[in-house]
Amino acid sequence: MAKDGLNLAVIPGDGTGPEVTVEALKVLKAVAAKEGFTYRTTPFDFGGERYLQTGKVLDDEEVAGLKKFDAILLGALGHPKVKPGILEKGILLKLRFDLDQYINLRPVHLFPGVDTPLKDKGPQHINFDVIRENTEDLYAGTGGILRKGTQQEISTQEMITTRFGAERCIRFAFELARTKKKEGKGKGQLTLVHKTNVLTYCGDTWFRTFNEIGEKDYPDITRDYNHVDACCMWFVKSPEFYDTVVVPNLFGDIITDLAAIIQGGLGVAAGGNVNPDKGGVSMFEPMGGSAPKYTGQNVINPIAAIGALAMLLQQTGIKQGHAKLSKAGDRVEAAIKKTTPKMKSQAAGKMGMGTKEVGDLVCEML
Ligand code: IPM
Ligand code: MN
Repeated sequence: MAKDGLNLAVIPGDGTGPEVTVEALKVLKAVAAKEGFTYRTTPFDFGGERYLQTGKVLDDEEVAGLKKFDAILLGALGHPKVKPGILEKGILLKLRFDLDQYINLRPVHLFPGVDTPLKDKGPQHINFDVIRENTEDLYAGTGGILRKGTQQEISTQEMITTRFGAERCIRFAFELARTKKKEGKGKGQLTLVHKTNVLTYCGDTWFRTFNEIGEKDYPDITRDYNHVDACCMWFVKSPEFYDTVVVPNLFGDIITDLAAIIQGGLGVAAGGNVNPDKGGVSMFEPMGGSAPKYTGQNVINPIAAIGALAMLLQQTGIKQGHAKLSKAGDRVEAAIKKTTPKMKSQAAGKMGMGTKEVGDLVCEML
């Protein structure tokens, strides 16, 4: 953080993205006043609307321009008039890859008063973190189509694992498990999720890397392994078993949606695309999409976006060694936990109050 404060890039994006971003920024303003730090925000209009008007998705210069910020807050991307894939690949995935945000950090914590579809489970049971690798695997985009449109069409898409990519992700996960244990927030357990019984090459690299690093550098952390299909069952049956989970990109995409629904759904689930390296720029986002049908009606739940802000403050604070930011992040998280019990539901249109009122309430609870 520079002398003139936290320097944030804001990408409100499409649909309900701008509405929830406004609430997150409202909370930022309030918490900055309370904790005594200054900040600046610079908005960027990347998204479906700009694409439809100008044909521009996101170019290298624009990505380079984002590198001078301390962090990025993203609302949502996705426009009903834009073909699926263009904005996702052209903006979201491009940012993750070009800014080398190799960690997708997904806290799965059931907040007080939030309904889970899991019978007899409460906040004490649903309280873990998923670390998803964010730059490799089937997302790397290698492969192609031959003889397209003919009966002989052939397409391939390859699962890419590098030792380097698996290792940096696994190390981040072990570190998180250790920190949580030290802070009394976890039992010191890391679960690797893969499919080593079928994916005998990529799975092997992950499995060996996980065990080598764990044995050598993290003997204090218990190692555990789940096949991804079994993990889907266990998340539902015994979520309380999990502490920290590390998983490659595509499996991580899938299990974190499952995790999002058990923590109360897309209204509350937030995530971070983190580049933990010095000088790296991370991006935080609510997990939900742009929800076009709810746009502009003051009915969408901003808790996930406010949660993304809390993560942004916590992670930027940790990375830059700014205790005030970390404290501000914790404060926002605590305020969210005091707000959710006052809401009727976390679903859009059923909260018992509007988007703006939820934002106001979080500010009050700070
Ligand atoms: C997510 C999303 C993205 C992903 C899409 C929008 C490309 O589903 O952040 O989980 O697959 O990673
Ligand atoms: Mn996803």
